[in-house]
Amino acid sequence: MIIRVPASSANLGPGFDSFGIAWQLYNEIDFQIAEELSISGCDEQFCNENNLAYVAYHRVLERRGLGDEGVAIRFGRTAIPVSRGLGSSAALIVAGVMAANELHQLGLSRDELFLLATEVEGHPDNVAPALYGGLTVSAMNGGRALTRRFPISDKLHFIALIPPFELSTALARGVLPDSVSRADAIFNISRAALLLRALGDGDAQLLSFAMDDRIHQPYRSKLIDGFTHARIEAQECGAAGICISGAGSTLLCVASRDDFADRMETALTLSLPGWEMKELQPDLSGAMIAAL
Ligand code: HSE
Repeated sequence: MIIRVPASSANLGPGFDSFGIAWQLYNEIDFQIAEELSISGCDEQFCNENNLAYVAYHRVLERRGLGDEGVAIRFGRTAIPVSRGLGSSAALIVAGVMAANELHQLGLSRDELFLLATEVEGHPDNVAPALYGGLTVSAMNGGRALTRRFPISDKLHFIALIPPFELSTALARGVLPDSVSRADAIFNISRAALLLRALGDGDAQLLSFAMDDRIHQPYRSKLIDGFTHARIEAQECGAAGICISGAGSTLLCVASRDDFADRMETALTLSLPGWEMKELQPDLSGAMIAAL
């Protein structure tokens, strides 16, 4: 059974640990019941029981009292860059929980799978869009996650600027302060609410104001070599909003002008060697069974 899961960008600036968007950029992972565990098609270092696809698969079975069932996991098309802030871990986790549910006919709802996936990931902002698709806002309530979808205007263009280096989420979370000032909390709350309106309406002017953040990006931008340069280039090419995708290292640009991608591609080639650009379309379907 092949499960197809979209990439995602969490945070979107002010929506730290709660906002996310799914992209039409997919990983496909094949799961088959087998005598014992085997993992293939990915880097050797990930072919073991710590692979998140297996951790998530196993967690679901454990919760249902099913113990150690063998499974053959084979990575097929994997288009989501690893450790770049595009939800590659969440994609593995979502694939794992869906595969366990389907292969063992457990009858769990998507909402139940969301809770299990969030438990494995530790926060809901990537697993929500990966599972449901679209623009999601998620919240934790006493250890349980809740999510809702919001509209995305088709007037907007989304471009990922992907640097030639990884950034571990643990490191990027480690540089964040434990508490924030009231002024910074107000700064983010107001912008987060306006950002939903800007994304829904395709309002580039509002977006350029609403995608700002004071809770995580000021600390993380220092970990991304070339961040300031890339942001200036993107602004000059006409980006309305620029934020770190998830924990980084990718930058996500949002623009309303049709020539943004062409201009950005030229700028990137000239001044940010090694950086890759990807035009992203929102995925509105979420994870699905691609083949039985
Ligand atoms: N919200 C998370 C973070 C996303 O920014 O750390 C990355 O997993």
